[in-house]
Amino acid sequence: MSTNKTFTMIKPDAVSDGHSGSIIKMIEAAGFRVVALKKTQLTPERAGEFYAVHKERPFYNDLCAYMSSGPIVPMILEKENAVADFRTLIGATNPANADEGTIRKLFAKSIEANAIHGSDSDENAEIEGNFFFAHTEQF
Ligand code: RTP
Ligand code: MG
Repeated sequence: MSTNKTFTMIKPDAVSDGHSGSIIKMIEAAGFRVVALKKTQLTPERAGEFYAVHKERPFYNDLCAYMSSGPIVPMILEKENAVADFRTLIGATNPANADEGTIRKLFAKSIEANAIHGSDSDENAEIEGNFFFAHTEQF
């Protein structure tokens, strides 16, 4: 069953470059409603927990260091077909392969510092949303 919600976070490079507002504007213009939002910073341990599925990947340690290097802006978003439509809006993991007009094409610096995260399934959207927003009201 589709839950019509997805989870995202604006990553440290995009936050420190001052792109949070532009990115949220694109997200809202694409028809997503922000139902929870905050600014926070992960410790390397918390980043490791969030990305535990990638533990065996060669980029795991770098990814955890990068994702804990500065503030991030996690959000829960709502829209029909949210998970798939949001992946389309952000574009390919590697900005070199991202379509024109996507958030990563516009704001990502590299395959790692790629500006934004988007959940890859309804199940993970729920797990990831709870990771940051358990017991938080959603509007
Ligand atoms: P995300 O989870 O952040 O939405 O990105 P994704 O699904 O497009 O990519 P995924 O395969 O889940 O990888 C998670 C994040 O790890 C970093 N990465 N680095 N150096 C590399 O080869 C490499 N590959 C992936 C990126 O920050 C990617 O978004
Ligand atoms: Mg992913």
